[in-house]
Amino acid sequence: VNVALLGFGTVGQAVARILRDQPGITLTHVFNRHVARKRVDWLPASVAWTESIDEVLAARPGILVEVIGGREPAGTYIRHALAAGCHVVTANKQLLAYEGGALLNEAARLGRRLAFEASVAGGIPVIRGIREGLSGDQLVRVSGILNGTCNYILTRMESAGLGFAAALAEARERGFAEADPTDDLDGYDARAKLCILARVALRRDLHPDAVSCRSIRPITDVDFVYAKRLGCTIRQVSRVELDEARDLVTAFVQPALVRDESPLARVQRNQNLVVTTGRAGGDTGFSGFGAGGGPTAVAVVSDVLAIAHGGHGAASAAAPVAAPSRVTDRFPAPYYLRFVVHDRPGIVAALATELAAQNINIDALLQEPARDKDALPFVVTLEECDPEDLGRALDRIARMDFHKDPPLAMPVLG
Ligand SMILES: NC(=O)c1ccc[n+]([C@@H]2O[C@H](COP(=O)([O-])OP(=O)(O)OC[C@H]3O[C@@H](n4cnc5c(N)ncnc54)[C@H](OP(=O)(O)O)[C@@H]3O)[C@@H](O)[C@H]2O)c1
Repeated sequence: VNVALLGFGTVGQAVARILRDQPGITLTHVFNRHVARKRVDWLPASVAWTESIDEVLAARPGILVEVIGGREPAGTYIRHALAAGCHVVTANKQLLAYEGGALLNEAARLGRRLAFEASVAGGIPVIRGIREGLSGDQLVRVSGILNGTCNYILTRMESAGLGFAAALAEARERGFAEADPTDDLDGYDARAKLCILARVALRRDLHPDAVSCRSIRPITDVDFVYAKRLGCTIRQVSRVELDEARDLVTAFVQPALVRDESPLARVQRNQNLVVTTGRAGGDTGFSGFGAGGGPTAVAVVSDVLAIAHGGHGAASAAAPVAAPSRVTDRFPAPYYLRFVVHDRPGIVAALATELAAQNINIDALLQEPARDKDALPFVVTLEECDPEDLGRALDRIARMDFHKDPPLAMPVLG
């Protein structure tokens, strides 16, 4: 089977290294902008290095691998490749999250396969696991840790007591965070993966912009001190849940407190975890390295081999997927509120009044000994409450004049 590779970056190079040793697979083209600087001596001389997508498509490769990234021009290249009769393998989560429905329909219409195992949780075969291993169950929820950069930062804050900026700097130094980490820290990367998982596991088409996404940037080392006192730690959690009877999807990506004994708390450094929940089979976990050239390339090459060997599995024509009637991020939970204030009498009473006005019960008040009365952190935990009621209370609380930093609210997940 002839394979053309679009993109010769981190993943593309790792894919080429594995593909070159696969019997029955011939890498015919490497396409990249300004391709001359990309040439390497470890690929056969027969490989054509090109900047022309027309040249690639004219050669009619059996499989086109897209690891350029970004929605365009990758989306256009994939459409042209499908129309030209190629099967396509991609690692492109943003493209799949936003345009996966249309692209998969197009592939099915043309009788081509579009495989995307690498787009979610890198080297962990979660798409294939759900589609093949769990197809006998009716899945109702997918949750987990889908971003290795956030998990690296949060677990280093937890284990080494680093502040957010120091943990981010370390992640960059060790290659776990990009120069611009916005997509990772603010949840857009995890959200794209969550939308792809919702499609595969719950058969619901979610527009990523409809899924609420909160940043881990406001988390400080102090939050880990208080979380520990509560028997918890902090993780960036992604979750999507289907209420079939109401055709309602609850979905979010946000930092949350998780109990020390939960599987989420045990995910360390740049590891990922996906947990599916099925009506019959209960919880099933998939864990491993969700990013990096090697693990991601394994997922790409596994898709290439499945197609080359005529396997259907991960690349089978999509079963019907529908948009849900409603998407919300609203679910009742106990909450953790952290304040940093210029200390003065009456603050707790003021907070309690606003919370009581929304019928929210305080569970506990925690304050570690602190010297700096101008930047005094303390925590209020709440009994289970509705986040909309809490939002109303916090809007009023945030306008009070004693805050040094904006208040931080996180759900405590069971
Ligand atoms: N890295 C990971 O751990 C990981 C994990 C899971 C999924 N993915 C996905 O895999 C894909 C590739 O990621 P990566 O980390 O390999 O990115 P990367 O290192 O930036 O590689 C992308 C390659 O494509 C080239 N390219 C970009 N835009 C192009 C264009 N318009 N025309 C021609 N060539 C273009 C780049 O050339 P230049 O050198 O000129 O920029 C670069 O060689 C992305 O969709 C990403 O989300 C990556």
